[in-house]
Amino acid sequence: MKYDEINSQSIDKLMDIFYNKIRADKSELGEIFNNKVGRSDDAWVVHKAKIARFWRSMLLGEPCYDGQPMKAHIDLPPFPKELFNTWLEIFYESLDLVFNEKPRNFIFQRAEGIAKRFKYMIYEVKH
Ligand code: HEM
Repeated sequence: MKYDEINSQSIDKLMDIFYNKIRADKSELGEIFNNKVGRSDDAWVVHKAKIARFWRSMLLGEPCYDGQPMKAHIDLPPFPKELFNTWLEIFYESLDLVFNEKPRNFIFQRAEGIAKRFKYMIYEVKH
C-alpha cells in the first residue's frame, strides 16, 4: 500500500527504504555514507531518526530538527558533484515505493531544491 498522506509513519518508511538502498550502494555514494555514519545498525537507526526529524520539520512544520544540514555537507571530504544526481535518483526510487504520485512529486521537488542549494554552497562558493 502506498501512502497519500505525509505523516510521521510514511516519513519513517521512506527513511528505511532510502537509507537501506544508500547503505547497500556500492558506488562512491554508499562509501561516503558508510564511512561517515558508520557500519553498525545502531548508527543507522540514529541517522535515520535524525533525517526523519529533518523531513518532519520541512514537510509538517514540526519544530523537531535543529541541525546544520549545509555545514554537515560542506564538512564532508570532497566528492564529485554528479553524486547529487545519484542521490536524487535513489531518493526518487524510494519515494515512488512509499508514496502516491502527488506526495511523491511534492517531496521530490523539495529535495531537488535543497540539493541545488547544497551544490551551490559546496561547489560555487569559496570556503
Ligand atoms: C551527494 C549528495 C549527498 C551526500 C553524499 C550526503 C551525505 C551525507 C552524510 C555522509 C551525512 C552525515 C553527516 C554527519 O553525520 O555528520 C549527511 C547528513 C545529512 N544529509 Fe546529506 N548527503 C547528500 C545529499 C543530501 C540532500 C539532497 C539532502 C536533503 C534533501 C540531505 C540531507 C541531510 C541532512 C538533513 C543531514 C543531517 C545533518 C545534521 O543535522 O547533522 N543530504 N549527508
